[in-house]
Amino acid sequence: MYKVSANNLRNYCKRILVEASLPEEEAEVIVDSLVEANEIGVDSHGVTRLADYITRLNKGIIENKTELTVLREAGSTILYDANNGWGQYAGKVAMERAIEKAKKYGSSVSGVRNSNHFGTASYFAKMAANAGCLGIVMTNASPLMVAWGSRKPTLGTNPFCAAVPTNQHPVVLDMATSNVARGKINLAAKNKQSIPEGWAITKDGEPTTDAEEALKGFLLPVGAKGSGLAMMIDIMTGVMTGALFGEDIPRMYDDADPQQLGHLFMVFNIENFMDLEAFKERMDERIRQTIESPAAQGFDKVFMPGDIEQMRKESALKEGILVSAAVYNELKQLGEEYGVNADL
Ligand SMILES: NC(=O)c1ccc[n+]([C@@H]2O[C@H](COP(=O)([O-])OP(=O)(O)OC[C@H]3O[C@@H](n4cnc5c(N)ncnc54)[C@H](O)[C@@H]3O)[C@@H](O)[C@H]2O)c1
Repeated sequence: MYKVSANNLRNYCKRILVEASLPEEEAEVIVDSLVEANEIGVDSHGVTRLADYITRLNKGIIENKTELTVLREAGSTILYDANNGWGQYAGKVAMERAIEKAKKYGSSVSGVRNSNHFGTASYFAKMAANAGCLGIVMTNASPLMVAWGSRKPTLGTNPFCAAVPTNQHPVVLDMATSNVARGKINLAAKNKQSIPEGWAITKDGEPTTDAEEALKGFLLPVGAKGSGLAMMIDIMTGVMTGALFGEDIPRMYDDADPQQLGHLFMVFNIENFMDLEAFKERMDERIRQTIESPAAQGFDKVFMPGDIEQMRKESALKEGILVSAAVYNELKQLGEEYGVNADL
């Protein structure tokens, strides 16, 4: 493991993206989202993605610049075409516009079609919470997951995220709809460990505890309810925005076609319901009831959604970010390729 400062990591990765032909402003947003994922401990959506993104850029599967066009706009709603640009940048623009509209109309929905992987959903939902709004963010993704009871993957691990302003850090639920992230199976395979039943099935639809077989197979949803939620997210982000959906979405690592993903950003302005200060006081009580409840056997403490990520972020800001040797070496190699000799 290597310990790197968040600032150095941001600057280093941004220089690589700029050298790889991205506009400075876009590179900054993309890298901010990736490094923030590392800060909150969601390493699977952190700087480990940089090399994969650049591979897709160099193959011409994704544009180097995100030219957003507005397809429809009526009062509180807006629909963008990201024209095969970058998910993080399209997401930031769409969320900023949704916040602006929610402040004007009370609530808003901003949709994006023809986009690419946008990283963590919480990156955008927290923008709404920090603006005194309740934000909901969803996206569809490569079909790596089976619907409940199926043996053929027709769903992505489509994440749902909601973020809520409070007197402390926002309450943030940001969850994939699969039982476990594919990254955890990758890690088990690398460490030659078995995986618990219920994480994945083989390509023939058989339950497996063999990580290698699981990687050749498909992820399982968080039960029938996770499968249903993933389906609804695909309908809202894919079917409704005009993006690709379900099994038609090209897979990020295996296919050489634009993914044409869809994202949805919903914002509720709290002040349209009550004073923000009053809401935050009510949230104090909502949080207190839960975190002060007695911990069950086997647990030390009860957390609110987002607490664990916030604790990791505070520690990363103080102590630096731990990057695995494999990811560190990958970044160093990219730096060499693109003539970036900034500190890492
Ligand atoms: N862009 C994409 O295509 C895509 C697809 C899937 C997932 N993702 C991202 O992957 C990330 C990881 O998703 P995940 O489902 O593996 O996350 P996770 O399982 O680590 O956490 C899910 C949620 O549960 C909460 N949580 C976890 N333990 C808790 C506890 N003990 N008490 C209270 N709350 C707790 C967390 O705060 C978090 O909000 C998310 O940021 C998601 O947006 C992105």
